[in-house]
Amino acid sequence: MAKDPRWDNVVVIDHPLVQHKLSILRDVGTGAKEFRELVKELAMLEAYEATRSFQLLETVVRTPITQTTTFVLAGKKVAVIPILRAGLGMVEGIIELIPAAKVGHIGLYRDPETLQPVEYYCKLPEDIGERDVLIVDPMLATGGSAAAAVQFLRDRGAREINLLVLLAAPEGIEEVNRLCRDVTIYTCAIDSHLNDHGYIVPGLGDAGDRLFGTK
Ligand code: PRP
Ligand code: URA
Repeated sequence: MAKDPRWDNVVVIDHPLVQHKLSILRDVGTGAKEFRELVKELAMLEAYEATRSFQLLETVVRTPITQTTTFVLAGKKVAVIPILRAGLGMVEGIIELIPAAKVGHIGLYRDPETLQPVEYYCKLPEDIGERDVLIVDPMLATGGSAAAAVQFLRDRGAREINLLVLLAAPEGIEEVNRLCRDVTIYTCAIDSHLNDHGYIVPGLGDAGDRLFGTK
């Protein structure tokens, strides 16, 4: 894991396996099946890093050889919140790793003209305020969608919020930090900039369309 000197709340997952998989994900020749598998795997690897600070409790286990003191999770409650629709691609890998996590959904799309997020769905676990929240979305571009999701969640009582993306633009990180305090952002890479249509450069194109084959 690497900290970016520009932002102390941003963690870049620089593990070689992550960087290798990300390169294949970016490739225009990668088809929808492989794209979905890579998004799932990258989300799982990212969640592994994002949960590094979870607390442990001592317990006693009897192995076939002897009794020993070991560690288990201290009952951390987690909520995984995908931003529809591309965030859906990241859920499965994370709940395989954290099967007790609850999943909420926030439906947002970017208006293609204004690039502003428009909410069309929101369903969250009732006890969201007691859970560590992992908002998941492959792309942090202008930051409008992520910032809106953080604000919805805060309005509904969420406290501990982490944002897991696969690619981030500097503009998106700045926007999240401007509008939302205390959010840790995990990403596999920070790209160069946004183009005139709000797409990340070099990026990977439209994550939702590549996941679901809609273009
Ligand atoms: C994409 C992506 C993010 C958003 C990022 O979703 O999955 O949610 O754009 O852009 P922003 O940082 O500028 O807000 P999109 O709106 O294309 O919807 P989709 O997931 O339904 O394809
Ligand atoms: N949404 C995407 O899917 N890709 C981008 O590059 C920006 C926003």
